[in-house]
Amino acid sequence: MNRRGLMKLVAAAAAGSWMTKREAAAQEQVARAVRGLPSPKIKDVQVIQTAPGGLRLPVVKVITDQPGLYGYGCACFTQRADLVVPAVEKYLRPFLIGKPADRIDDTWQAMYNSSYWRNGPVLNNAISGVDQALWDIKGRQANMPVYQLLGGKVREAADCYGHASGGEIAQVVESAKSYMARGFRHVRVQVGVPGMDGYGAGRGGTATAVKALHKGPVFEPAYYIRRALKLFEACRKELGDEVELLHDVHERVHPTQALQFAKDVEQFKLFFLEDVLSPEDIAWYRLIRQHTTTPQAMGELFNSPHEWSPLIAERLIDYIRVHVSQAGGLTPCRKMAAMAEHFAVRTAWHGPGDVSPIGHMANVTLDVVCYNFGVQEYSPFNERLQEVFKGCPVMKDGYLYPNEAPGWGIEVDEKLAAKYPFGDNERGSRKDLNGGWGEVRKRDGQIIKQ
Ligand code: CO
Repeated sequence: MNRRGLMKLVAAAAAGSWMTKREAAAQEQVARAVRGLPSPKIKDVQVIQTAPGGLRLPVVKVITDQPGLYGYGCACFTQRADLVVPAVEKYLRPFLIGKPADRIDDTWQAMYNSSYWRNGPVLNNAISGVDQALWDIKGRQANMPVYQLLGGKVREAADCYGHASGGEIAQVVESAKSYMARGFRHVRVQVGVPGMDGYGAGRGGTATAVKALHKGPVFEPAYYIRRALKLFEACRKELGDEVELLHDVHERVHPTQALQFAKDVEQFKLFFLEDVLSPEDIAWYRLIRQHTTTPQAMGELFNSPHEWSPLIAERLIDYIRVHVSQAGGLTPCRKMAAMAEHFAVRTAWHGPGDVSPIGHMANVTLDVVCYNFGVQEYSPFNERLQEVFKGCPVMKDGYLYPNEAPGWGIEVDEKLAAKYPFGDNERGSRKDLNGGWGEVRKRDGQIIKQ
């Protein structure tokens, strides 16, 4: 319907008195604001379940009653992907059908409150899928990329860090050099611990597994800490002072060890030290802050404002590292970024392979519009991912660029997506556990956080 048609309808409805004068005036105003485009209504909500890169990526598709107007959103909780699907299909779908697709914050608040019990990872990811799809729809309607809807760029592209890893220190150094040769100015370095299952680097070197009172993967925090310090020393010696080094502890050490470790790495001038504490131990950041200048990054496991608000407001961390879909999507995360800006805390949104290309586009969109952007985690899109998600963000010289096409600028080849179902390319315990993670224990059998 064109603008004139809508005006006529509004006038006719008002005359027919099934619409009050006030409502008619309000609708006329809306019609003018959106240049006569009628408000799209949500007609269907679906979940695309695909794993083109091996990891399970649930992506929500919101379809409107306007021909060809739809959008995609990232709902990626890869370890429990099968649970996100019914959260969308059985709860959000009936809740949303018939609702306007152009009231994003209102819809977000409605979804968030509709379960009464909130801030869990499954529900937040489901909400994010819808939220990001609504932003995509609005961008397509406006014929603008989402970053333009948010005010436009404050920088040209997002400076990224790549993952350099290996079982041996020399391998990590080589891997870091190859990133630097490709133009990266930031590299995350992770090394294996001999005979153990370290995070981000697999088992250390060729060493046989250490003796333990169980048969599963072993990890001992003290061994890892000594090894990591040797790695940083080698990196500074081999790579120089110019490159920004990052490191992820992945909450694998006790807070007492975290405090000591954060002090010991100070000499290597890391760009940031990530997840040195687990979400359960965040009160310890006060102590870490008092004892060391090592910049702290935290938050990829956070679901709730109760987790990030105090850390930001007390300036206890330097980088907020939330997994955007885990926190409920673009809508809450742009508010989080705005809050952090006031406290000079910068963003470093979670961006590994368990974020869909739609989610990476949401990350880079926030990166280029938020003044307090810090750095973006990057993981490459393999060929299959790029075929399924046409229009992945583009990487050049360590910078990630958002699309210039409307919305996220990504079209999902749904037929091809179906050829890579959940479980595709999974092996070992991950396959047995339906995409979930197994367990890691200390030598004596105690479970560790991972
Ligand atoms: Co991490």
